[in-house]
Amino acid sequence: MKRVLVATEKPFAAAAVKGIKEVLDNAKYETVLLEKYTDKADLLKAVANADAIIIRSDKVDAEVLDAAKNLKIVVRAGAGYDNVDLEAANKHNVCVMNTPGQNSNAVAELVFGMLVFAVRNRFNGKAGSELKDKKIGILAFGNVGRNVARIAKGFGMEVLAYDAFVPAESIKEMGFTPVASVAELFEKSDIVSLHAPATPETRKSINYELVGKMPKGGIIVNTARKEIIDEEGILKAMMEREDIRYATDIMPDNHAEMTEKLGDRYFSTPKKMGAQTAEANSNAGLAAANQIVAYFEKGDERFRVNK
Ligand code: 3PG
Repeated sequence: MKRVLVATEKPFAAAAVKGIKEVLDNAKYETVLLEKYTDKADLLKAVANADAIIIRSDKVDAEVLDAAKNLKIVVRAGAGYDNVDLEAANKHNVCVMNTPGQNSNAVAELVFGMLVFAVRNRFNGKAGSELKDKKIGILAFGNVGRNVARIAKGFGMEVLAYDAFVPAESIKEMGFTPVASVAELFEKSDIVSLHAPATPETRKSINYELVGKMPKGGIIVNTARKEIIDEEGILKAMMEREDIRYATDIMPDNHAEMTEKLGDRYFSTPKKMGAQTAEANSNAGLAAANQIVAYFEKGDERFRVNK
């Protein structure tokens, strides 16, 4: 009997766990739950006899893979898989997958929650501004970026987009305005929404220079990864430009300093919650369970990311 470990420091909604269990029960697999663990030792113990793991942002590094002697597959229920050591997975012959698109609407909706909160001065009663007719620049036009574009249209915003891997022509065909570079996106957008993955190329790429290029009153909203931000650079730029605001769903390492120095111009959610909806949890969790069954039963590797 295959044993599937669901290891989530930040648990799925109960309905999602129920759905995952149903999928695995139907395949006659055993579901083992490790939720809200705070100690890596608990994960190391739990993976020891797992054939498969479903995770969220949980770290699966060489030590975890070493401890998982039976492991064949890890599915990251979500989009970004920077929390999995792919090289170590390759060495252990472990297949790694993600579930692209399954939680992207939830993240996109949070962008607008954070934006409305920011432009209405955190609901302090003072006159704020509207999103209508503002230019939103979307950095990385994948599943989340495209959902942000769709919703932005509903707000009556003008949508600009840049993605190193999506041709300008395709962005145009989708009805949005492509720009030629990240710098141009920051120059032309009243609001920049970040959706790039954390990779060696994007690490600390949102820096002092880019922030300084924004038009007056510019807002940056980050629902992607903290690793793509040059935290010192963004703080320095915002100290020089007192009109710029920054809202993030991923608390920076210098959160205390940002709060102290930037006051109301800076905001972070206490815990990353872009994908924290019942719908996104169910979509991503069930997709992960189904992918594991399809992998074992049919050899389906469609969503493999460590090719
Ligand atoms: C993702 O990459 O799918 C999102 O960042 C969501 O991450 P989470 O599952 O840790 O909330």
